[in-house]
Amino acid sequence: MADVIEADGLAILPGRITPAEQRALAEDIRKIIKKAPLFQPVMPRTGKPFSVEMTNCGPLGWVSDRAGYRYQPNHPVTGRPWPAIPERLVKLWQDLGAPAEPEACLVNIYAEGARLGMHQDRDEATFDAPVVSVSLGDTAVFRLGGTERRGPTRSVRLASGDVVVFGGPSRLIYHGIDRVLSGSSRLIDGGGRINLTLRRVNPF
Ligand code: SIN
Ligand code: FE2
Repeated sequence: MADVIEADGLAILPGRITPAEQRALAEDIRKIIKKAPLFQPVMPRTGKPFSVEMTNCGPLGWVSDRAGYRYQPNHPVTGRPWPAIPERLVKLWQDLGAPAEPEACLVNIYAEGARLGMHQDRDEATFDAPVVSVSLGDTAVFRLGGTERRGPTRSVRLASGDVVVFGGPSRLIYHGIDRVLSGSSRLIDGGGRINLTLRRVNPF
């Protein structure tokens, strides 16, 4: 379980999702992946593959390919609209006091050895809503910085059921995943970690 941190619009909420809700969410995600298969994004320009696999749900989904990062209404491989965001995630967004409704839910899947470099979530046309991040499955070593790329960072472990909210002055903080602690949870068949990030893309 993570330490509780709550300051400057950043909240880390250990165990915010109950074990029963975590199981229900993992099942929701399994169904979403059936409709919207995982794809492997690549870095803009270089085409270097990410080590995480992704899919999305919601009216918009985040994708990355050689042309750049963007939100789009359709799956890049199947061309179909993304499945709906599960009601329990919309409710979480509302319960946390986030405004309007989330438009995108990025699903990141971390198998053993996957990581995610330090970055800001800044492809949205509004930063007035927080990003709400849900961790499921194996514990992640999460790295958290400030709003400057070269500022100091700290490391926080995110376990299954932990929720992070990046809002207000912390909406644009740098963050990444250093590594995932394989075998630390039994939530997901076959192991691994799921991260869900709910975002508002357009002004409301
Ligand atoms: C992300 O920044 O998109 C994912 C963060 C995480 O996996 O916790
Ligand atoms: Fe992010």
